[in-house]
Amino acid sequence: MIVLKSQREIELMKKSGEVLAATHREIAKMIKPGITTWEIEEFVDKFLKEHGATPEQKGYKGYKYATCASINDEICHGFPRKSPLNEGDIVTIDMVVNLNGALSDSAWTYAVGKVSDDTQRLLNVTKEALYRGIEASVEGNRVGDIGHAIQTYVEAEGFSVVRDFIGHGIGAVIHEKPEVPHYGLPGKGPRLKEGMVFTIEPMVNIGRYESKMDNNGWTARTIDAKYSAQYEHTIAITKNGPIILTDQG
Ligand code: MF3
Ligand code: CO
Repeated sequence: MIVLKSQREIELMKKSGEVLAATHREIAKMIKPGITTWEIEEFVDKFLKEHGATPEQKGYKGYKYATCASINDEICHGFPRKSPLNEGDIVTIDMVVNLNGALSDSAWTYAVGKVSDDTQRLLNVTKEALYRGIEASVEGNRVGDIGHAIQTYVEAEGFSVVRDFIGHGIGAVIHEKPEVPHYGLPGKGPRLKEGMVFTIEPMVNIGRYESKMDNNGWTARTIDAKYSAQYEHTIAITKNGPIILTDQG
């Protein structure tokens, strides 16, 4: 069942999303060669506390950290760690913020220092794919239209779309209905309605789309060791089109 949110609930989720967006803006300033994802994890913990919010991922299904920190060929759910990032790396920081019971979810891939041209193009295409998905998120369209917009764009650019992880409704808990794949067929899936709130979070690979799981049971990485990027927003469907609740401005 897809739970529709009231205007008031969406307002509260937007407040949560503003804290999340502010966190990403701070992280953007911290990223440079030599910094560790553990420092970012500690910063996020402290920053959320200062803003009266809590990290919803900590304790979720046994996950231990406020952030996921996925480096280079890691697709998602990397653990924050104490080894330094190097020039040319990319790192995706993903988190879910709880502010007064209202959740928001947003991931962003950061370039560490100067990255290769191919890597920079991966970041540009993945971000554009997210915004194309958001553009397709209008009442009357179906969930499949979102995935179709993302997949056709990404594949035309010569990259691939991860299938094993998808966007999701969000509200009282991190994962609700609907499921929002970043691939698919136009006109398929549930119809988009005012009051739906969900994430769009395409993971895009330079090489093959398949993923494999690390021994830690969490971290997914590409099967060909090529890089993977991700941009994620939480959005609300309204009569006047989608609102990005985690917009960084
Ligand atoms: N933020 C993730 C998402 O986009 C959820 C991470 S699962 C967790 O769906 F266990 F790491 F919290
Ligand atoms: Co997320």
